[in-house]
Amino acid sequence: MNNPKSSFKNIHDIILKIISIIKFIFNAIKLAIIVLLLILKFMSNLIFKFIDKITNKLRFSIKFKLVFTYVFIFILISIITDMITLGTFNYYVNSGKMLNYSNFLFGILIFSNITGIIIVIMLSTKNSEKLISPIENLTDMAKKISIDDLDKRIDVKGSKDELKELAITFNNMLDRIQESVEKQNQFVSDASHELRTPIAVIQGYINLLDRWGKDDKAVLNESIQAIKDESENMKHLIENLLFLARSDKHTQKIHKEKFMLNEIIDEIVTETKMIDTSHIILMEKNEEFMINADKNLIKEALRIFIDNSIKYTPPKGTIKISSWVKNYTSIITIEDTGIGISRKDLPHIFDRFYRADKARNREKGGTGLGLSIAKWIIESHEGIINVTSEQDKGTKIKIELPLAV
Ligand SMILES: Nc1ncnc2c1ncn2[C@@H]1O[C@H](COP(=O)(O)OP(=O)(O)OP(=O)(O)O)[C@@H](O)[C@H]1O
Ligand SMILES: [Mg+2]
Repeated sequence: MNNPKSSFKNIHDIILKIISIIKFIFNAIKLAIIVLLLILKFMSNLIFKFIDKITNKLRFSIKFKLVFTYVFIFILISIITDMITLGTFNYYVNSGKMLNYSNFLFGILIFSNITGIIIVIMLSTKNSEKLISPIENLTDMAKKISIDDLDKRIDVKGSKDELKELAITFNNMLDRIQESVEKQNQFVSDASHELRTPIAVIQGYINLLDRWGKDDKAVLNESIQAIKDESENMKHLIENLLFLARSDKHTQKIHKEKFMLNEIIDEIVTETKMIDTSHIILMEKNEEFMINADKNLIKEALRIFIDNSIKYTPPKGTIKISSWVKNYTSIITIEDTGIGISRKDLPHIFDRFYRADKARNREKGGTGLGLSIAKWIIESHEGIINVTSEQDKGTKIKIELPLAV
């Protein structure tokens, strides 16, 4: 006899089995989808790594990369959709279950096309992200950079294309801005430092006068002379600083006119001979020629070179000045038998505030700005300066300037 209790147990067991089979099938499908997605991710990573490797070695334009990617995705999608369509269609035709071919084919095509669209969206999203990531980097970096934080740079790793070139150009531009900001800061700090010394000296003498000097004639005279010298130094420094500030701002005016350079050299040599009687000043040759330049600026540059020769040549030393024309270029030389410049100092003498021997040169009233001004003047006239020097033997400055046409 059928026991109702055991038949109930049987039904219960069957239901439990069915539930566990459904659970199993559900889990299996879940697993299959996860595996499929993982395989797809792995494949796409592999494919992109492969493409990256090739493109990193070669230089491709973005246009080429886009065309290449579209063609690649089209081929991949065609292969996937064709395989799904043909495979499913073949399976059903061979199993003999097919009744309505056209409806079935329509269904498979819709399914394979949707699969294709999903894959295209996945691949092209990743590819577009990769392609535009340098632009995003550039935007982020441009937002972050400020004048106080100029040492950030864009990462330029990755494939060579127009965007990488843009990033490199942007980085180079930042290098130049940083360099010029650092130079400006250095200039301001050097200028303040240079101004501090004469002010301190003047203050020192004023205090001295205040305490004891009013009635002491010797202290009074010494103080007045020192204050005069220091204020003269300060005036010289401020004039030089203003000149360089104008040249940096491109507001230093250059009034070019045609004039005979030999006449200017004659004037400067006569002036120098009158001011400086402790050196032998010679003019070897002074050929007649015309240049097209700013007369006052050229005079100032020549005075800077001659002033240096006077300052850095012991008394009784010789200073020779010559000028002539060679290959349609005017050449001026200023040669002295002074202390000379060491090899270590020579590359820096045109740097602002550079003095080979700071302590000694300051005593001579030097600020270290003369040559940077002279260089600016000569180069603004398309000229070239060449310096040769030997320590304890002397220095020779050769200036080349184009002739007037
Ligand atoms: N003819 C020279 N002989 C030896 N050293 C020189 C000569 N010309 C320039 N120098 C060196 O180059 C440095 C820079 O010269 P620069 O004319 O720029 O500055 P400075 O003479 O010290 O000051 P200033 O601003 O008053 O001209 C000098 O301090 C000196 O050490
Ligand atoms: Mg000088």
